[in-house]
Amino acid sequence: MTIGKEASPLEVQELTTGYGDVAVVRNATMYFPARLITTIIGSNGAGKSTVIKAAAGLLPAWKGRVLAEGVDITREPAWKRVRRGIGYVPQGRVVVPEMTVRDNLEIGAHILKGDRARIDAAMQRVTQLFPVLAQRLKQLAGTMSGGEQQMLAIGRALMASPRTIILDEPSLGLSPKFVEVVFDKLQALRDEGLTVVMVEQKASRALAVSDRGYVMHLGQVVYTGAAADLAANENVKRLFLGQIPEDIHLLTEDADA
Ligand SMILES: Nc1ncnc2c1ncn2[C@@H]1O[C@H](COP(=O)(O)OP(=O)(O)O)[C@@H](O)[C@H]1O
Ligand SMILES: [Mg+2]
Repeated sequence: MTIGKEASPLEVQELTTGYGDVAVVRNATMYFPARLITTIIGSNGAGKSTVIKAAAGLLPAWKGRVLAEGVDITREPAWKRVRRGIGYVPQGRVVVPEMTVRDNLEIGAHILKGDRARIDAAMQRVTQLFPVLAQRLKQLAGTMSGGEQQMLAIGRALMASPRTIILDEPSLGLSPKFVEVVFDKLQALRDEGLTVVMVEQKASRALAVSDRGYVMHLGQVVYTGAAADLAANENVKRLFLGQIPEDIHLLTEDADA
């Protein structure tokens, strides 16, 4: 943490981690500023999920540090990070299908340790943000659509009243309509003061709703900056936004002429 700069709610410094003896994230430094949306993009297998798992405490750091508000939490287990206000929504909207929506939400509140007033307040806030959940509290989670289950997965993380929420590909497998809804909700949370960190494959769409971004490639951070600058960056576009390289575009124009 630098003097004069507000301590970031979450950052990773020179982080190296992986699986078995294979390092899949190498020397990654990322800073997630307070009350902004930061998106991590990059091709499949780049190490995006791995970096946020280490940030959430689900994977140990081999080297480097994880900091929350300037405090070194590198060795803290995931549940302590949740208690610190760092929420995590895994990829694939993992809800308990045979439990009701209400019970799924209550799981997210377990760190509130049965404080009924706080749990009810959290439930109220989450159902206001996601009215679709309010209408379905008694429904079994497994009977809801993919988009609704993603709302539930986000709602469950919000039940612990996090100040920072980390999401792994929240738009994955959702219909275009639900992608819009989810991104709108993340912006609403940011506007309420939450710090949002997400990993996304839908890079251009995600950058459009984000404030800042990181681009990962082969386990390393290769670009960072304001989301709009990354979206306009020619190298980023060519590599990660699925844009047709300029020379091919020119050939097409020639063919038309
Ligand atoms: N549980 C795991 N065990 C072994 N290797 C894994 C595991 N999870 C991911 N990997 C590997 O680590 C690399 C980075 O994966 P990941 O962080 O999931 O990438 P991304 O989220 O950017 O698609 C990939 O090569 C992937 O195959
Ligand atoms: Mg991933």
